[in-house]
Amino acid sequence: MNKEPMDPYPELPIEQGPHGRGVGRWVAEQKHAYLSNYIVGTREARKKFKQRVLIDPFCGPGRIRVEGELFTREGGSVTAYRAAATSEAPFTQVLIGDVDSTRAQANQLRLEAMGAQVQAYYGFANDTVEEMARSVPFGSLALAYIDPYNLEHLSFSIIERLAKLKYVDFAVHFSLMDLTRNIDMELNPQRNRFDHALPGWREAVSGQPLSKASLPGWFFRRWCQTIEKLGFTVNGHMPLITDGKGRSIYRLVFFSRHPLADRIWGDIARSRNLNLF
Ligand SMILES: C[S@@+](CC[C@H](N)C(=O)[O-])C[C@H]1O[C@@H](n2cnc3c(N)ncnc32)[C@H](O)[C@@H]1O
Repeated sequence: MNKEPMDPYPELPIEQGPHGRGVGRWVAEQKHAYLSNYIVGTREARKKFKQRVLIDPFCGPGRIRVEGELFTREGGSVTAYRAAATSEAPFTQVLIGDVDSTRAQANQLRLEAMGAQVQAYYGFANDTVEEMARSVPFGSLALAYIDPYNLEHLSFSIIERLAKLKYVDFAVHFSLMDLTRNIDMELNPQRNRFDHALPGWREAVSGQPLSKASLPGWFFRRWCQTIEKLGFTVNGHMPLITDGKGRSIYRLVFFSRHPLADRIWGDIARSRNLNLF
């Protein structure tokens, strides 16, 4: 029996993954579960802030269909909003964005149906992030959920801009599959798909005694170090998401400047029990 809350707008778009076949089971069972568990786990900390903001610049339509299922489930921002609301420390503001305006609009309507205060932005995340960051009231506690399909859209400038907020934690979905499949090809100076994710990486890698196989690991470590230079601790627990056929597809990377947030993520990411609430 499906216990998912009903979709208030079943006629609106649904996230079915980049190939339209439905998203992998791990989206609900891992990605959204880690996010919600973290939000529930940090409820007491959130209560200390008058303004609590969720930022989701790759928001999708707010509803997903898992491959092989006939029903739909709540999407990332909606799941996150519900987790905060039911743990008595709701987000006072939700900032969502998507390059596809029909998706961001659908997400906004779904969130508003739950009582959320929502501002939606349409466009590429590296453009919308400036306005999003400016909409965050001073002194708010912000959670940035950065969830692009691939590395090409994970611009470092998005992280850099949001890192200027005083109290901000990040949960980033980092595409390992894109990295491991394509890094070799991306060494070609005629190409630039990874240049926004880690500016200057090609110059930094040249002259290093690295085998092809060690390139993805080098890139990922340097990306983490670059984030640490912004004053964050990158949590060592980075759940590895596999596609069910043993291939690593994503890592869920959490970083914060606050030791409590870091500890709570560590506890959640270590836990095998990912039942929501
Ligand atoms: C992985 S889906 C988002 C899923 C959603 N965060 C969730 O958890 O349910 C990625 C979304 O990013 C959008 N997108 C792709 N490239 C983008 C970009 N450069 N800037 C903003 N949105 C983008 C896509 O239209 C898609 O809706």
